[in-house]
Amino acid sequence: MFAQLLRTKPADPHGHSGLKKCLSAFDLALLGIGCAIGTGIFVLTGIAAATQSGPAVVLSFVFAGVASGFAALAYAELAASVGGSGSAYGYSYVAFGEFIAWVMGWILLLEYGVGAAAVANGWAGYFINTLANFNIVLPEALIKAPSQGGIINLPAFGIIWVLTLLLISGVKQSSQFNNIIVAVKLSTIVIFIALASMHLNTDNWTPFMPFGWFDTLDNGKTIGVLAGASLVFFAYFGFDAVSTAADEAKNPQRDLPIGLLASLVFCTVVYILVSGVLTGVVPYGELNVSSPVAYALSKLGYTWSSTLVATGVLAGLITVLLVLLYGLTRILFAMSRDGLISPFFSTINPDRQTPVRIILLCGIVVSLVAGFIPLGQLAETVNIGTLASFVMVCVGVIVLRIRQPDLPRPFKNPWNPLVPVLGILSCGALMAFLPTETWHRFGWWVAAGVVFYFSYSIRHSKLRKAA
Ligand code: ALA
Repeated sequence: MFAQLLRTKPADPHGHSGLKKCLSAFDLALLGIGCAIGTGIFVLTGIAAATQSGPAVVLSFVFAGVASGFAALAYAELAASVGGSGSAYGYSYVAFGEFIAWVMGWILLLEYGVGAAAVANGWAGYFINTLANFNIVLPEALIKAPSQGGIINLPAFGIIWVLTLLLISGVKQSSQFNNIIVAVKLSTIVIFIALASMHLNTDNWTPFMPFGWFDTLDNGKTIGVLAGASLVFFAYFGFDAVSTAADEAKNPQRDLPIGLLASLVFCTVVYILVSGVLTGVVPYGELNVSSPVAYALSKLGYTWSSTLVATGVLAGLITVLLVLLYGLTRILFAMSRDGLISPFFSTINPDRQTPVRIILLCGIVVSLVAGFIPLGQLAETVNIGTLASFVMVCVGVIVLRIRQPDLPRPFKNPWNPLVPVLGILSCGALMAFLPTETWHRFGWWVAAGVVFYFSYSIRHSKLRKAA
């Protein structure tokens, strides 16, 4: 049995997927930026500033960015040498064998599924704000989760269904479409920074660190700059989507590392600027609202610009959502094709040419999560999963260097194993700063995955049948 748990797949660095190789380093960087800039910067910055970091939320972004940077280097090495579009799931299959790959895939399902629900919540915040600017006010019961005193967050629930139906109809985001939306998103950020920076009041930046570095309150909540870092880390989740495009890159060996690192550096700079300006124009304590960027502009008197920015954010978040939902169905599809979950899910509907059953299942589950659980809890749950996958990818680099020293590595981490070890330590530290309750949720999820593996996947694995 152990042999099976450890059985690995061969690397496939040349990508025999049959997909067209058409993406340049620039396209890849824009892909990363398109997936990363979203609810994290547009909503969570406000929550983190008001409740955990204060104006030092800027530092929280720096810490989260540095940890992501180490992980990006690990992703770049594995994407260029192992290849394939399975991202951390695929790399784990090659580096660690089937069992760890299963656990990784299971964690990715949590990450993408709950991630989509979290972004839907962020989208709902700006949607409600935009309607309010047109004097349309939805009843409280229909815009809040039960734990916040409402019945359901209907806009968050609804947007997931709109996109689920789009995915079923075969919509696939093209790189041109992504590039246009990235331009819209960046324009909204430029408008915000240009208008708001004329009203900077440095008094708002003191006290800079009102909640200190780190503390746990009696109710289990965590505060401080480091706790804030583990929350706003959500803003970086998604840049790793670049690695899933390995098969479609023109020159993956050169362009993937460039695309990954360029998108990460760019996002970090944008996050520092936006969070610095936001906390400079509004006292941090006021920022715990569902659309902080639009709120700041309205407060400064720019009502129409606020509506314009909110509309840009709405368009921008749609692409993040599409990528996450699409990624979720793709991971489930890969796991089903490998025999680890039922083949019932990997049948393609002949009329639509899409895996309709998987998409519907994802739509049902994600819409319910989005409608009934509030954003903060969702984001922390996503982050623990993403950080765990970053840690595993860093470990994967070290393990593969030992197990397959001769594997061609067009991109190598410098000073091995220093960089992956720093990645493990920094991402592990951010995990440690998450609340205990988040750890419990994560533990239960992984335990459920292990039970599923031993009761189903181990007997149906294609790799085992082939062996
Ligand atoms: N990083 C993405 C966001 O912030 C998922 O919305």
